[in-house]
Amino acid sequence: MPAIYAKAPGKIILFGEHAVVYAQPAIAMPVSKVYATTRVIPEVTGSKNQVHIKAPDIQLDVDLADLDREHPFAVTIQQVLNAVNLDHLPSLTLLISSTIPIAAGMGSSAAITIATIRALTDFLGKPLTAGETSSLAFEVEKIHHGTPSGIDNYVIAHQKPVFFTHGKPIEHLEIQLPTHWVIADTGEKTSTKDTVADVRKLQALAPETYHPIFEQIGQIAFNARQALIAGNTDLLGQLMGENQRLLEQLTVSSPKLGELISAALAAGAVGAKLSGGGRGGNVIALAPTQNTQSIESALLEAGATRVITTTLSKGEK
Ligand code: MEV
Repeated sequence: MPAIYAKAPGKIILFGEHAVVYAQPAIAMPVSKVYATTRVIPEVTGSKNQVHIKAPDIQLDVDLADLDREHPFAVTIQQVLNAVNLDHLPSLTLLISSTIPIAAGMGSSAAITIATIRALTDFLGKPLTAGETSSLAFEVEKIHHGTPSGIDNYVIAHQKPVFFTHGKPIEHLEIQLPTHWVIADTGEKTSTKDTVADVRKLQALAPETYHPIFEQIGQIAFNARQALIAGNTDLLGQLMGENQRLLEQLTVSSPKLGELISAALAAGAVGAKLSGGGRGGNVIALAPTQNTQSIESALLEAGATRVITTTLSKGEK
């Protein structure tokens, strides 16, 4: 039996992070320049039912039997077994790797889970739909992120730009005019679990202050939806600025994020904001044209550890 290989992209949130946890809408898109891959290598000579997991990026090289049952990889495998009605896997090695920066708000955990679900279900001859894959990955996201909204697993499993509201029908955006984005990593690792938990504490202490902020962010995402479809960069830029100021009120920005945002705006970006959980991770900047070079250079000069460009267009998958 040949090895089976599956892939899943990274993602960025364009509008609405954090508020989306409180049932407000948010917009996200896949970023296919970075991705997670999982290879299933069948072990024909190995001992019976031995599953080995190798994830060199996180220095993991372990038998499934020795992994804590609550470990995200163990839960991913259990989710797959439940979905396909099996009680164990045949002997195999899972080789997992990713070019998505870890703990940077680009969906690395969801992409790794989804690549693994895809590889295993293809290997077992029982491929799942994008919706089924997303639902399984959501269970694993709860381990990584505590109380996730589900937007990361959804956008990565469907590989389409989405207007997402937890618990409501999800809209796949039909883009008419392209927009060009620069994603810049602060190099500061961030834990989405911690930032989401901190915002949860704040809103529990002072709901009268924080719920209106969530609502304003939701309104921004709502207004951004049409602007994004129509490629209205001026309006998008303005909405990004408003979204960033509200994220600052949620205490999830950081001095480094602020510096990169200022650098992008000074270099001609029409808008810039943090993307994902915040307090580190990535900034996204919207470029006025396809030529993103001056914004990329300014971000690197301001200390970004990596920049990635991506275009949101009709053909974006
Ligand atoms: C994570 O990419 C975005 C957050 O809104 C958390 C979530 O939606 O689960 C911060």
